[in-house]
Order: sequence, then structure tokens, then C-alpha cells
Amino acid sequence: MRYKDTSDLEISLLLEAIYRKHGYDFRQYSQAHIRRRIMNRMAISGFEDVSQIQSKVLNDETFASEFLQDLSITVTEMFRDPIFYRSLRENVIPILKTYPFIKIWHAGCATGEEAYSMAILLQEEGLYDRTTIYATDFNQLALNQAKEGIFSNKMIKEYTTNYQLAGGKESFSSYYTSNYDNVIMNQSLKKNIVWANHNLVTDSVFAEVNLILCRNVLIYFDKNLQNKVQSLFYNSLINGGVLCLGSKESLRFSDLYEEYIELDAKQRIFKKKY
Ligand SMILES: C[S@@+](CC[C@H](N)C(=O)[O-])C[C@H]1O[C@@H](n2cnc3c(N)ncnc32)[C@H](O)[C@@H]1O
Repeated sequence: MRYKDTSDLEISLLLEAIYRKHGYDFRQYSQAHIRRRIMNRMAISGFEDVSQIQSKVLNDETFASEFLQDLSITVTEMFRDPIFYRSLRENVIPILKTYPFIKIWHAGCATGEEAYSMAILLQEEGLYDRTTIYATDFNQLALNQAKEGIFSNKMIKEYTTNYQLAGGKESFSSYYTSNYDNVIMNQSLKKNIVWANHNLVTDSVFAEVNLILCRNVLIYFDKNLQNKVQSLFYNSLINGGVLCLGSKESLRFSDLYEEYIELDAKQRIFKKKY
């Protein structure tokens, strides 16, 4: 492939260097996302061109792990998109209730807020004791934070509103204890969550599950990679299992669209056909 723009070539070489040296494969991430993150790092660190980043990534471990953090956006929330959780309660919980054991995979769980929200919802629906939640991400620092279950109390007002809009049945404050500037999620919410490092690009099927949530992750991937990861999800779901994507993500353009029924098209909830 010939590159007209030198910086495109430099970016391609940088991603190749990261993959070969560190094993993280960003080569099929959306170009716009990668370019934005690189420009951001150049502005912060005062690099003049992308090749300087490449040299640092190859020779400086501390810089390399910082830069890998740059490429992974871990923004998340408790009960993010509350209407989605409402739909989950109405359309997916009745399906889950038909199984004696339930396995749920949160792929790209970031700092864990989504998995804790699910644990709360399942507790309220009487299903948590028969559920295992696998919460995975390739960002180990985010996972470490998720495991701790300690969140800044600055967001609590917003999370309480989200919880209420999501159809929460209790007082949100009954799910955590406050400690100085933080809140600590109840131990009972953590008991059936398994946190694990998993890379959607380089690792294979994680487990056979009833429900997969992968929200706000595929937006960072190009079309080919999205299709590849959709196959991974398809092969990880039992027949009749449910796939939930983020509000800006769609199955419509996936090769596997025909293999699902839309349970809630607007909230991006799909059921794998039998
Ligand atoms: C914007 S967050 C979304 C968090 C949560 N799912 C939500 O919707 O609130 C995207 C997450 O995807 C993770 N991610 C990106 N590429 C990944 C990959 N190849 N394998 C696993 N996780 C990945 C990032 O580390 C980040 O934590």
C-alpha cells in the first residue's frame, strides 16, 4: 500500500510497532479515533512528528504503557443510558428468568460501572444468585479499579438519577457506603462478578453465555474489525442469547444481521435466532 500522506504512513508504522513489540493490535481501529489520540499525545508531550512517538514506544516502557492508556477510552457511568436499562428489565429479564443458571459477558467493561449496574438490576429481579457476570477489558488499570468498586462521590447525584430513570426499585444509596470523597459498592454486588483481562482483537471466544453487553467499544473499530468481533460474540452466545450494543453502534451493517431478531431496535438489543 502506498501512502500519499506521510503522517498516515507514520501512524501505520507506529501501530505496527506497538503490535510487534507489545502485542496490542490497534491496526484495525478507526483511523479518526487513533489520529485524535495521537494528536492529543503530541500536543501534551511536545512531539514534532509521529515517528518520535514510535521511538519512545519502542524504547521506553513507562511511556509505552502511558500511550497504551491514551488509546483506550474508559469513559463509563452507572446505568449509562437509563432507557436502555429499562428495556433490559422489560425485554431481557423475562428471557433470563427461564434459565436455571445465567452467564453474562460485559466486554469492554472499563472501570466496572456497567457490571455493578447489572448486579443491582439482577438483585432487584431476584436473579443475581444464579448469575455469573464476566466483566472483561484489555486495560488492566481500569480492571484493577473495577475490582475495587470504589468510585468518586462527585458522580453520585447523576448516577442516582440514572438509576431512578432506569426503573430502580430501591434507594440507590442502599448499594454503597460513603467514605470521604468516595463511595464503596456493597460487597454483595461483587460476589458473582469475575473480572478478567480479555482483548477482543487478539483473544478468542471467552465463554458460552446467555447475554453479551458490548457498549461503546465497537465505535473505535473499523468495519472489518467490527465484523470480526461480531463473529466472536455470535460464537459466544447460546441460541436465543441476547446481544446489547451501545446507542451509536448497530448490527445492521454486520454480516450477521440476519442471524438476529431485534428485541428493541432503538436500544440496540438483539436476540440470536435458534
Ligand atoms: C468507552 S469504554 C465503554 C465502557 C462501557 N462498556 C460503557 O459503555 O460504559 C470502552 C472500553 O473498551 C475497551 N476496549 C477497547 N479496545 C478493546 C479491546 N481490543 N479489547 C477489550 N477491551 C477493549 C477500553 O479499554 C475501554 O475500557
